Amino acid sequence: MELLIISSDDLRKHVDMKTVISAVERAYVQLSKGRADVPLRIPLNTPKGVTLFMPGYLKDDDAMAIKIVSVYGENPSKGLPTVTALVVGVDTETGEPKAVIEGTLLTALRTGAASGVATKALARPDSSVMAIIGAGGQAPTQIEAVCAVRPIREVRVFDIKRGLAEKLVAQMSDRLENVRFTVANSSDEAVSGADVVVTVTTSRKPVFSADSIAPGMHINGIGAYTPEMQEIPQEIVARAKVVIDSRTGALAEAGDLIIPLRNGLLDESRIVEIGEVLSGDAPGRTSDKEITFFKSVGNAVQDVAVANLVVESAIREGWGRRVSI
Ligand SMILES: NC(=O)c1ccc[n+]([C@@H]2O[C@H](COP(=O)([O-])OP(=O)(O)OC[C@H]3O[C@@H](n4cnc5c(N)ncnc54)[C@H](O)[C@@H]3O)[C@@H](O)[C@H]2O)c1
Repeated sequence: MELLIISSDDLRKHVDMKTVISAVERAYVQLSKGRADVPLRIPLNTPKGVTLFMPGYLKDDDAMAIKIVSVYGENPSKGLPTVTALVVGVDTETGEPKAVIEGTLLTALRTGAASGVATKALARPDSSVMAIIGAGGQAPTQIEAVCAVRPIREVRVFDIKRGLAEKLVAQMSDRLENVRFTVANSSDEAVSGADVVVTVTTSRKPVFSADSIAPGMHINGIGAYTPEMQEIPQEIVARAKVVIDSRTGALAEAGDLIIPLRNGLLDESRIVEIGEVLSGDAPGRTSDKEITFFKSVGNAVQDVAVANLVVESAIREGWGRRVSI
């Protein structure tokens, strides 16, 4: 069997965020149109964390892949990322596994792209100030993606570990020279007056106060992924236009929706999928004053779309390593 092996260096060198955003955009539309086969991901819990098995098939892209992704909270103390992953792409002509892709960076790219897609569809076009709460493994690609779709000139970073926020600011200042990066002293300081807010933490409780949110803001809630976890104050969810990646996934897993739904602050009929907004089947932002909230728990269609993009580019451009096993 011939396998194409794609490393994180390959991804870093050859894959551009704008292309990833377009691939994820198409994937969300296929998901909402019923043009994707995505069984609910299978979580296997161990004493130290959870490993998720996420398969998917995109009918219009004719692309199949499975990702094995783990969330192990103690990893940073061992010098490892909290989220680690591997993706296997399957040839849809023969059914043979055809590619093995480093999935930790692929996950960060496709998760960044989720915020990129939602920000492009929902944030005010003139958005120029971004706040990001959480400066961990997912943060760099969140910033790259939002900066790829809006004219961002200032990014404020807050993390409960200040050193991580400082490190992210130094790293991103080198990468995006026209953007001013600052470390905020509190989450509310970061969020106040921002146009686009990203929350990408492992917090179980809301990460800023409802008072810091002003009309017209767009929020991407990326971190909380269980029914008990929350990043966004429920008063905000009650007032905002609520857009999700997948109805099945988000309503089963996202505490940011499940808790306000349970408390009668949110009605399910108000929740739409990003794919519906992208295809014009549901309205997006309706005024400059509306608060828009995109909640993502992550969906295999993002991984399948990005894996397919990566494999096709590698074959066309001759990068990656071919191995016979
Ligand atoms: N939606 C998706 O598709 C998707 C994909 C990947 C990861 N995630 C989730 O995103 C979250 C972040 O992932 P990561 O890889 O960056 O993790 P990470 O552990 O590398 O970083 C999380 C950061 O959040 C900070 N933090 C925790 N509580 C905070 C608070 N109250 N205020 C400010 N900062 C706080 C931590 O100090 C840490 O630096 C995780 O919960 C992960 O499961 C979601």
